[in-house]
Amino acid sequence: MNKELRKVVIAGNWKMNKTATETKALLAEMKEKLPESNATILLCVPAINIGTAMDAVAGTQINIGAQNCHWAKNGAFTAEISADMLNDFGVKYAIIGHSERRQYFGETDETVNKRAMACLEGGICPIICVGENLEEREKDITKDVIKVQIEKGLAGFTAENMKNSIIAYEPVWAIGTGKTATAQQAEEVCAYIRGLLAEMFGNETAQAVTIQYGGSMNAKNAAELLAMENIDGGLIGGASLKADDFATIVSCVK
Ligand code: PGA
Repeated sequence: MNKELRKVVIAGNWKMNKTATETKALLAEMKEKLPESNATILLCVPAINIGTAMDAVAGTQINIGAQNCHWAKNGAFTAEISADMLNDFGVKYAIIGHSERRQYFGETDETVNKRAMACLEGGICPIICVGENLEEREKDITKDVIKVQIEKGLAGFTAENMKNSIIAYEPVWAIGTGKTATAQQAEEVCAYIRGLLAEMFGNETAQAVTIQYGGSMNAKNAAELLAMENIDGGLIGGASLKADDFATIVSCVK
């Protein structure tokens, strides 16, 4: 299997942006502007707006995803949301272990692993985020950092679990900073990740997994990044809040 056969997923991460009213308005604009695409188009909105967003995109090519999912089925975990709750809305994707969750909310490779497992058990595709920070890149330990995140984050996964998951490579220094990794830098790490997956799950599985790049992907740089052999889509923050920019990114998928 090669790039042509892998699923391309263009995902927006709206983070903590847009009220329900604004969500409706932006989705109405997206519906008008997004070109028809062979890619899977996904917008991960704040949990409180999932219902509103689902209603707004009913019958279109746009999927609505979550930005997190707890590992327990239910219980005393104030402010968390479960896979069952997401399933009830028909959510099929959830971002897990975003660097902002790791940085500000104490998320670790262990909690990432538990959350991803809960998604898989609930039939939800986890988009598992990994990436080095600036200090790690400058120390030239990017691959060591990624290896630990991948091995611990995917601990206990079967090949089947892996095929039902997505990996997002997001260098922390490129998120929201306007500094994009060059297409070569992004490709190098995405290829490295695919190599790790091949060691862990076999080459056939590794070749089937969608690996996204994220970090200041925008209307200008998307075409070059998405053309790379091991980059099968994007996880897009800022540019997914602008319908025109997001539409341009979607149109870059060949
Ligand atoms: P950005 O965010 O595109 O605004 O850099 C990407 C992300 O955090 O997923």
